[in-house]
Amino acid sequence: MITALRGMKDLLENDGKLYKFIIQTCESVVKNYGYKFCETPKLEETTLFKRSVGQSSDIVGKEMYQFIDKSGNDVCLRPEGTAGVVRAFIESKFDRVGGIRKYFYYGSMFRYERPQRGRLREFHQFGVECFGEASVYEDASAILMLNEILNNLGIKTTLKINSLGDGECMPLYKDKLVKFININKENLCQDCLRRLETNPIRILDCKNDSCQNILKNAPLITDNLNQICQDEFNKLQEILRANGVEFEIDPKLVRGLDYYCKSAFEFVSAEIGSQSAVAGGGRYDKLCEYLGGKPTAAVGWAMGIERIMEILKQKEPQNSRQGIYICALNPNLIDEIYKIAQKLRKHHITEISYEAKSPNKHLNIADKRGFEIFLCLGDDEFSQNQIWYKNLNDKSEKRISIDDLWSKI
Ligand code: HAM
Repeated sequence: MITALRGMKDLLENDGKLYKFIIQTCESVVKNYGYKFCETPKLEETTLFKRSVGQSSDIVGKEMYQFIDKSGNDVCLRPEGTAGVVRAFIESKFDRVGGIRKYFYYGSMFRYERPQRGRLREFHQFGVECFGEASVYEDASAILMLNEILNNLGIKTTLKINSLGDGECMPLYKDKLVKFININKENLCQDCLRRLETNPIRILDCKNDSCQNILKNAPLITDNLNQICQDEFNKLQEILRANGVEFEIDPKLVRGLDYYCKSAFEFVSAEIGSQSAVAGGGRYDKLCEYLGGKPTAAVGWAMGIERIMEILKQKEPQNSRQGIYICALNPNLIDEIYKIAQKLRKHHITEISYEAKSPNKHLNIADKRGFEIFLCLGDDEFSQNQIWYKNLNDKSEKRISIDDLWSKI
């Protein structure tokens, strides 16, 4: 039997339903903030991710689905959505026009990670990217929007925020951190020894105990921000408080992608194990320029749909029944139930069974497949312009007039 690849999952039945529900919930919120739908290719030149996500990141260093195509191009399945949207923005010359543009997108991302609970090799994200607005109010809006979506989905999370500084204070902080870590560097894990050379701030979120021990009294970025970054970080906190959004400051929140500056944030859930981040993002004012465009301020985030689905599944009421199952006891009545079903389908999910079975067998199938309403037409009912109706939630049943059916359901 051919099975799906390791770390890749089908979205069938309830999973498909939940996926759609999450996308619709996200869409309805972000549209009110002026975001428009966009879609970019899943396959891009590898260089795009090397330059944006960063050579030193785990995503580029270890996790890319990279290959040479039949024309000899070095290509890669997208590990995240931001780089492709920035490329499209520059390629469409919107960076030259100026002004504000806001996009939302959703779909598959690919990371060759070790699969575990909450960590897939193909997973889905809903993401947003806002270009052309440098104000910290826009960072706050991005967070408020995400907070509203999570509230609408009924999901309890903790918001963690940090400031990663700018091109002035971050390099100074990195020097300070490297000097501090160098004293004890022989106790660093292999990955962090490499990070010390390539991207030392990633050592801050290493899960290894010996690395965390070294970091106990390490300097914090939040104590080393310049005045502009400090003022903006204070303002962000003020706006969040004014809007009733609780948060924690986490000076070790550095995010796994290299393009961030200033605001960085993550929403984490206690309900899904160690892979607890359900969404994350931040400001990335230098990326557009770095990819060859005009300097353009930008902020965005992405949400992991599978992780949200796992939380929603834990909350789902068992037996949430839906839809109508309609059948006939006599093959001659199929035309009649077909007519009724077509009318019902204007407003309700309706499935027809064309098979000749006993009423009990039909009822069993409708019950097992989770339908809410069971309709069955026999010769006797038909002769009186009636149909047998059963509500599979409360088990009530009766014969009702076909003319009354539309008002009863
Ligand atoms: P990210 O933090 O790498 O950010 O991913 C966002 C979310 O995708 C995570 O919080 C998590 O829920 C989900 N996720 C990541 N990896 C996996 C995986 N292997 N399996 C399942 N879910 C996963 C980004 O991707 C940035 N592009 C976000 C962004 C947009 N920043 C600015 N704009």
